[in-house]
Amino acid sequence: MNRYKNHVLEHADRQGYATPAFNYSDIWEYEAIVQAAIEERAVVYTATNMRVAETIGLPYLGALGAKAYEQTGGQILNHLDHSRSVELCKQAVDCGYHSVMIDASMCSLEENIEKTCEVVEYAHKHGVVVEAEIGRILGRNVEGTYQGEDYLVQVEDAVRLAQKTHVDSLAIGIGTAHGFYKEKPNINIERLQQVNAAIDTPLVLHGGTGVPFDTVRACIQNGMAKVNFGTQLHATYIDTLKKELTDYQETDIAAFMIPVRSAIQSVVQSLIQVCGAENRFDG
Ligand code: 13P
Repeated sequence: MNRYKNHVLEHADRQGYATPAFNYSDIWEYEAIVQAAIEERAVVYTATNMRVAETIGLPYLGALGAKAYEQTGGQILNHLDHSRSVELCKQAVDCGYHSVMIDASMCSLEENIEKTCEVVEYAHKHGVVVEAEIGRILGRNVEGTYQGEDYLVQVEDAVRLAQKTHVDSLAIGIGTAHGFYKEKPNINIERLQQVNAAIDTPLVLHGGTGVPFDTVRACIQNGMAKVNFGTQLHATYIDTLKKELTDYQETDIAAFMIPVRSAIQSVVQSLIQVCGAENRFDG
């Protein structure tokens, strides 16, 4: 089975679970995700936002992802998250990424379609899958800074984007936000149901951190085939490292980072279970 061809999300969609994507910023966070996936026998996406991708470099991250994919027999899929740049998506494809996201949700529908088509055409030639976005994910962090009122996806826009681009998966705005929520998130399940009924494209829930687990499960039952988490991992990283550093005696970095990795791994394992993605890997 060629996992690059989106069979992963189609499988999740059909079977009523979601494949989770976890954002990472360094090798310790990355390793925590890989170990959690192995422990849970889950297929997961390791995702980098544009800042991490541009700072560390796509060739280096692409090689890391290719190695993890090879060593696990296809369990770890390397994903470029929220790229505003068509060129960066193409570079990620050239660097061996398995999946890329072109986020043109801030553009007009026609421009969104145009950019998504350009990425899809290039990526599909190389066996790489593409995620696009329609409607907007709220939030203030590097993955997205949208604060407006008109975040909700319009069903007819989602249909048009899916039909015109043949994109493999679609992130839709239904009220989730990147980062911690200040108040209980107001998630529009009805709009999700409408989009899910209108298109076959697997749907993606962004801003997974802080969404009550029952709501995440309800989103999955209603068509979300991929759920993204980042902030929860990064906060665990920082909190654990702070504790490790309060009274440090040595300068061996690994001595601090091994407990950090374990703490993140536990969080990732529980989020894999929330998505119902455990024991789904058949390799
Ligand atoms: P959180 O950081 O809110 O979990 O969102 C992650 C995400 O959606 C990345 O695209």
